[in-house]
Amino acid sequence: MLKGEKMIEIIEKTDSTNEYLKNKKNKSNYCGVIAKKQTKGRGTRGRIWFADEGSLIFSFVIKEDKNISMLEYLKLPLIVGMSLLKTLTELEDLPFMFKWTNDIYLYDKKLSGILVEKIGDEFIVGIGLNLNCKEFYELSNIATSIYLHSSKEYNKIKVAENIIKNTKMYMDKFYKGKWQEILGEINIYNYLKNKEIKFYSHEIEYEGIGQDIDKDGSMTLLVNNKILKFQVGEASTRKRN
Ligand code: BTN
Repeated sequence: MLKGEKMIEIIEKTDSTNEYLKNKKNKSNYCGVIAKKQTKGRGTRGRIWFADEGSLIFSFVIKEDKNISMLEYLKLPLIVGMSLLKTLTELEDLPFMFKWTNDIYLYDKKLSGILVEKIGDEFIVGIGLNLNCKEFYELSNIATSIYLHSSKEYNKIKVAENIIKNTKMYMDKFYKGKWQEILGEINIYNYLKNKEIKFYSHEIEYEGIGQDIDKDGSMTLLVNNKILKFQVGEASTRKRN
């Protein structure tokens, strides 16, 4: 830690905690920020991220290790996803799932999203987690919170600290070459496995059955009796008839 630096800074309001950390000087590895309010929260693919006061709005830094290639670092959202799953399963015994590449689902609804951005030699990991949210209004058919299933309120700082602690633990494993071990764990929580999926990649729509997440971090899909691999894309699920 740098002198006088807090591992997790708490701020009242910012446009985006990812932006806040990008602009902050002298950061140490794994330092983070929690905002009570975010006015321009960003999601993946240029989407807006809405969050109320029940949400954990949080970002932290992972410094690039120059011995690791950018191709390897494409696995970062999956590693952070696994760290989130570990944190959540330690918190509550609920069926949390990982939806490739950057979402946590609970009972078929989105619970959390991850946004990883690179600036210079740092990765900024942004997490929006519906922790204590009580109401989703028009989003109630697609979003959920832990509170809605446990009726408990959680300490955001403790949850954020545990996410960082678990991320550090998985990153250390990753740096030691234990990716296969991490991947095995993620695949246990693979939300898309054996589901009928509509998959959008490079503006093409595919229909198939979700398979495992592959060793290079890509998603695999059974389409017309062939296994296809996707590095980028987004899945939506349909119920089987
Ligand atoms: C997604 O599911 O599309 C990713 C959502 C990521 C949202 C978080 S909230 C904290 C951090 N700051 C942002 O502007 N975005 C991320």
